Amino acid sequence: MKTILVTGASRGLGKSLTEVFLKNNWKVIASARDISKLDSHENLIPLELDLSSEDSLRQFIEEVKKLDLEIDLLINNAGYNAKDSGDNDYFQSTFRIEHFSAKAVDDTLLINALMPMQLISGLLKVLSSESVVLNISSWLGSITEKKAAGHYAYSGSKALLNMFTRGFALELEKSDISKCQSTVALNPGWMQTDMGGAKAPSSPQDVAEKILGLYDSKVLQDSNGKFLNVDGTEHLW
Ligand SMILES: NC(=O)c1ccc[n+]([C@@H]2O[C@H](COP(=O)([O-])OP(=O)(O)OC[C@H]3O[C@@H](n4cnc5c(N)ncnc54)[C@H](OP(=O)(O)O)[C@@H]3O)[C@@H](O)[C@H]2O)c1
Repeated sequence: MKTILVTGASRGLGKSLTEVFLKNNWKVIASARDISKLDSHENLIPLELDLSSEDSLRQFIEEVKKLDLEIDLLINNAGYNAKDSGDNDYFQSTFRIEHFSAKAVDDTLLINALMPMQLISGLLKVLSSESVVLNISSWLGSITEKKAAGHYAYSGSKALLNMFTRGFALELEKSDISKCQSTVALNPGWMQTDMGGAKAPSSPQDVAEKILGLYDSKVLQDSNGKFLNVDGTEHLW
């Protein structure tokens, strides 16, 4: 039985990934800020993780190590967009230059890029020889295709995650820090979730199934350091 670790499993894509991988007989280590939001299943290991807290991350890494399992797919899925905070002034301070707040932008960088990398760092030794680290990015993190004005926190956090993915991919190629085969940044596309809204064209279930397909067909294992779409094609950086 293979093991996946997915962050942000309480709703959206993380919840769908949990359901799809359980259905396909994987063991799932699922993280949530509130684990009571996770359904129970014999192959589901629920663990608490708040990516805005270093203490929470440290404790989470210890709990995962205690499981004594090798991880075959680590998905940094949890993500934050200040527009969902419900505080428009706060959102504008991450979105428009005339209101820019370094502190507010930093909240998003921490959750979407910095803590995901610290999570990888803490789990390097428990990644299996067939493992992939998948960082869920966004088309909004592409510098080449940047079209949306402003949007400093969310777009900047995904661009940073993309750069970190490249950095880690080269470390994997050039050293034996981990048995991990590859790391990939993935644009899941626009999905019907709380973040994406109801008008989005794709469902998180469909995206979760495509991610499983990319792992099973070894596309992810063969794409170290790439920025992919869910159909396996490359996205411009
Ligand atoms: N939806 C889209 O159209 C779209 C497009 C491109 C990329 N993405 C990316 O896809 C991923 C999944 O997005 P989604 O649409 O499923 O989003 P979502 O429905 O808003 O769910 C976000 C998930 O992240 C978790 N999360 C937020 N802040 C966290 C924190 N501080 N610590 C731990 N977990 C936290 C949430 O947990 P709580 O329930 O506890 O809040 C929730 O499980 C994200 O990385 C997002 O940036 C989404």
